[in-house]
Amino acid sequence: MPKETEYAIEVENLTKRYGDLLAVNDISFTVRRGEVFAFLGPNGAGKTTTVEIIDTIRTPTSGKVTLLGMDVTKKKHDIVPRIGVLPQGFSSFDRITVRETLQYYSRLFCCANTDIDELIELVNLKDKTKEQYMNLSGGLKQRLGIAIALVNDPEVVFLDEPTTGLDPRARREVWEVLLGLKKKGKTVFLTTHYMEEAELLADTVAIISKGKIIAMGSPGELIESNANYLALTLHSVDERTFEIVRKMGFEPIHDNHKNIKVRVEHTDDVQKILNAIKSAGALYLSLDVRKPNLEEVFLKLTGEALREDPPEMEAK
Ligand SMILES: Nc1ncnc2c1ncn2[C@@H]1O[C@H](COP(=O)(O)OP(=O)(O)OP(=O)(O)O)[C@@H](O)[C@H]1O
Ligand SMILES: [Mg+2]
Repeated sequence: MPKETEYAIEVENLTKRYGDLLAVNDISFTVRRGEVFAFLGPNGAGKTTTVEIIDTIRTPTSGKVTLLGMDVTKKKHDIVPRIGVLPQGFSSFDRITVRETLQYYSRLFCCANTDIDELIELVNLKDKTKEQYMNLSGGLKQRLGIAIALVNDPEVVFLDEPTTGLDPRARREVWEVLLGLKKKGKTVFLTTHYMEEAELLADTVAIISKGKIIAMGSPGELIESNANYLALTLHSVDERTFEIVRKMGFEPIHDNHKNIKVRVEHTDDVQKILNAIKSAGALYLSLDVRKPNLEEVFLKLTGEALREDPPEMEAK
């Protein structure tokens, strides 16, 4: 038996090349048992490559990956029964119902003991058991995909972009399911483009860009160490307000909607700005004060929004 460690996953100096393309560039990280770990990054950052090396589908170029105490390149047959995978762009058989699909995968993975009803309940598909796959909405298909990943009651679950392409409501319903997995104590490795998703679900977030992890920590830690300010927005402001705020030494910016945005360090600064506006007799309709989110962290670290972002080609 492999030794039980605190970590479900240990990745050391992992590199993956596809010919000249350096898709994953010497990354190291650990995932604790029972945590939700999110890999957050734009298209082509190397998320799927990393996940599929950890879940034994692809082979690394170099580096060491240990899953549940076992080397993924040597112990595939021992590892596979203990993990579940929802691949990116998952699809199933069009004309098979929800229940039949789960029965099929359960038999395929030799899990005679799968409690199909419990699974259906967990992913909230009770009303859809007789529905054929092709008639399910995108969100329901993804929830069925998550249930398939759970037929063998895995200890570690890999979900590669479980909510991409879903509308906001369907996304939230998938999040409910993922929160249920967390409650059950599963270790969940999630990849996503969505900051909000990582921020809401993950205990640890690793931001990956061009094959490199550029920051890692809890959402709170990442925000604290990379974006420690408050964002004040004044809506529909009087034209004088901009100058008042600027003369106080802040750096206000106008957005397209007659609003002013300004970054401040403390709530005291917000009070000072409001007092100055009031004593000058200027007006604003409303205001909000917001802590930065992971989006701002990503922008600060990469200088660009989360979008298409191909990895670097190595010089020949
Ligand atoms: N089998 C492959 N052969 C060659 N290149 C590949 C292969 N798989 C991925 N790549 C390339 O490696 C880079 C990383 O791809 P990967 O799919 O890991 O990124 P990703 O972060 O999952 O992106 P996405 O958000 O689009 O799913 C991309 O440039 C991709 O085109
Ligand atoms: Mg991918």
